[in-house]
Amino acid sequence: MDVKPDIVPGASGVERALAGTRLRVRTVEIVPGEVVLIDQLALPHDERYVRCQTWREVADRIRDMTVRGAPAIGVTAAGGLALAARAAAASDPDAVAFRASLEEAAAGLAATRPTAVNLTWAIAEMRALWEAELAAGGERARPAAVAAALLARAQAIHDDDVARCVAIGAHGAGLFAAGDRVLTHCNAGALATAGYGTALGVIRAAHGRHGDISVWVDETRPWLQGARLTAWELEVEGIPYRLIADNMAGHFMSRGEVDGVVVGADRIAVNGDTANKIGTYTVSVLAKEHGVPFYVAAPLSTVDLTVASGAGISIEERAEDEVTSFRGAQVAPAGARARHPAFDVTPAGNITAIVTEAGVLRSPFGPALAAACAAAPACVSGEARP
Ligand code: MRU
Repeated sequence: MDVKPDIVPGASGVERALAGTRLRVRTVEIVPGEVVLIDQLALPHDERYVRCQTWREVADRIRDMTVRGAPAIGVTAAGGLALAARAAAASDPDAVAFRASLEEAAAGLAATRPTAVNLTWAIAEMRALWEAELAAGGERARPAAVAAALLARAQAIHDDDVARCVAIGAHGAGLFAAGDRVLTHCNAGALATAGYGTALGVIRAAHGRHGDISVWVDETRPWLQGARLTAWELEVEGIPYRLIADNMAGHFMSRGEVDGVVVGADRIAVNGDTANKIGTYTVSVLAKEHGVPFYVAAPLSTVDLTVASGAGISIEERAEDEVTSFRGAQVAPAGARARHPAFDVTPAGNITAIVTEAGVLRSPFGPALAAACAAAPACVSGEARP
């Protein structure tokens, strides 16, 4: 584990996107032979970076939540595949052995976290490239050349994610007005993406455009992404916020103190049903009850056209001890059993609008998502399953 100084603003997409903001961190950096991650387990108290040199290390860091957030996981996995290609190419294997190494890494990375479809999307993007290069034959099909192309593609996926987030922010900012108090759940910020953020990108852009935006930050049990990461991003940015325990959202909504909700997404089904951090569904029910607009902000790479509705989204079930203990300290009686679904599904009927890089999509979401995906084919495609 290494400590790395703040990134000095330069010419890359990340720095351009964050120009004018105070946030000066890189969530994921993909360079030849390394994937560098800000250690989200150490934040907010320690700002340090983890350097991964193999795809297996990358997979471990996704699994243990050093890096988390659907778009960030996808970008990181692309970087992991670039590492796998570089390592495999070093022994100048034949095409069959080279492809087998890449498929092994792809399977290992895909298995790390099942709900975030951006992971599947990024792996599919990388696979399409290596298959095209191998099929091209000649110089292009040499393992070293394919590995170089995969590194460039992983870096492009990274930069592309930042651009999408900035566009999401620009579209979403118009949904809010000066004086609004906006509630968010989990962390869908710069830390959950390659930079800038989705839900927090909308808040960032709204604050930049209107000023006077304040944020209710759900702490987000059990991993406390809200308390540790969203509060940290807002603190650094100087955007006013109040941290609340998850069970307080209804109280503030019932008193008319919440003007809107904006959350991220891990997977959006064909009909608009949306999987996001556990507790999001509860917030959506409260918002509906109190007439508070509920927005989902996500890139089209989060849309899964192979899943007809939320019922088909696989929900990651994590370890019980992440609920019964906190940071290694047992808080429940010894031997207490727990359940730990990491995500839940918000039905499309509870969602006011889905903010994407293609614009603000309104109900009925099925045709709106289909049109957006047809115009900018960044969605996971295939036959829709129920
Ligand atoms: O378990 P996590 O921290 O990876 O869950 C993250 C979320 O649920 C985010 O809201 C989602 O991935 C969108 S991030 C832009």
